[in-house]
Amino acid sequence: MIEKLRQMMEEAKQKMDRAASLADAEELRVKYLGKKGELTEILRSMGSLPPEERKTLGQAANSARSQLEQLLNENMERFRQMEKAAELSAETIDVTEPGQGIPIGAKHLLTITTDEIIRVFSGMGFSVSEGPEVETVFNNFDALNSPPNHPSRDMTDTFYISEDVLLRTQTSPVQVRTLLSQKPPIKVIAPGRCFRCDTPDATHSPMFQQVEGLAVDEGITMSDLKGVLDRFAKSLFGSSEKTRFRPHHFPFTEPSAEMDVSCFKCGGKGCRFCKGSGWIEIMGCGMVHPNVLKVGGVDTERYTGFAFGMGVERIALLKYEVDDIRLIYENDARFIRQFK
Ligand code: DAH
Repeated sequence: MIEKLRQMMEEAKQKMDRAASLADAEELRVKYLGKKGELTEILRSMGSLPPEERKTLGQAANSARSQLEQLLNENMERFRQMEKAAELSAETIDVTEPGQGIPIGAKHLLTITTDEIIRVFSGMGFSVSEGPEVETVFNNFDALNSPPNHPSRDMTDTFYISEDVLLRTQTSPVQVRTLLSQKPPIKVIAPGRCFRCDTPDATHSPMFQQVEGLAVDEGITMSDLKGVLDRFAKSLFGSSEKTRFRPHHFPFTEPSAEMDVSCFKCGGKGCRFCKGSGWIEIMGCGMVHPNVLKVGGVDTERYTGFAFGMGVERIALLKYEVDDIRLIYENDARFIRQFK
């Protein structure tokens, strides 16, 4: 048995000398020390030997095991280092190789348009404010003087989250928030997302964007409203364009109007673009209703104000001559990249 051990050790050492890789060494470990390994079998058979033989043979087998383990560990470590070194040298990075170009993105049409609207109003002294997309029914309707039975409150038009909370249908609730948190003089615009239960088509999207405006101070009149919005339209669409104000109705303004800009496609003569009228409607506006000012605790004897609200998509479609609102939200990179 001792002789068998000696021969096995001799053979193991020779085999180890010939091993060339971590895999070879692992194979040897399994051959001798694995569950069914040769040395493992010898050690296992110790139990069946008479006690006197067990002692000497046991010692010899145990020392053979530790020698073998040491030999294996040393060689495996050596192979590991060799393999790591080979891997690292194969992986060297050529820092002189040209890099991969990162294509430059483009601003989205809606961002471009919103930025432009903000730029014009900032130039006239308006600051930019924001409100949450999830609003209270109070801020979105009640505080804006909207009658309790107004059709826009219907479940079919408005996304309700609960009885008192909804996705805002307009940016006008930011007027309420501003009046509650600031004292006149006030001059703010508020861009943001709005939501309505609309089926998408060329001119409707259930999610869209508006820019709201509010100015409150002593002595503000309808002329201020007309002057500011006329200047805005000329800055955005061209200084030769004309504007006109048509009477309209909104619950939160009195009087209310819609503003049209002369058709910049045909110069006002009438074309397919303006449906023959020579005018294009671009926003709603009016003098802030005293009931709205009162919610904000504003003294309506002393202060007056004007407000306006426009759809950003509508302005973008008109200005950049895009004929379907869905293109704005499909995010086809080829479409988006063409606007600068
Ligand atoms: N909130 C209105 C809408 O969504 C737009 C609007 C009209 C806003 C008149 C105003 C305004 O501030 O004065 O249709």
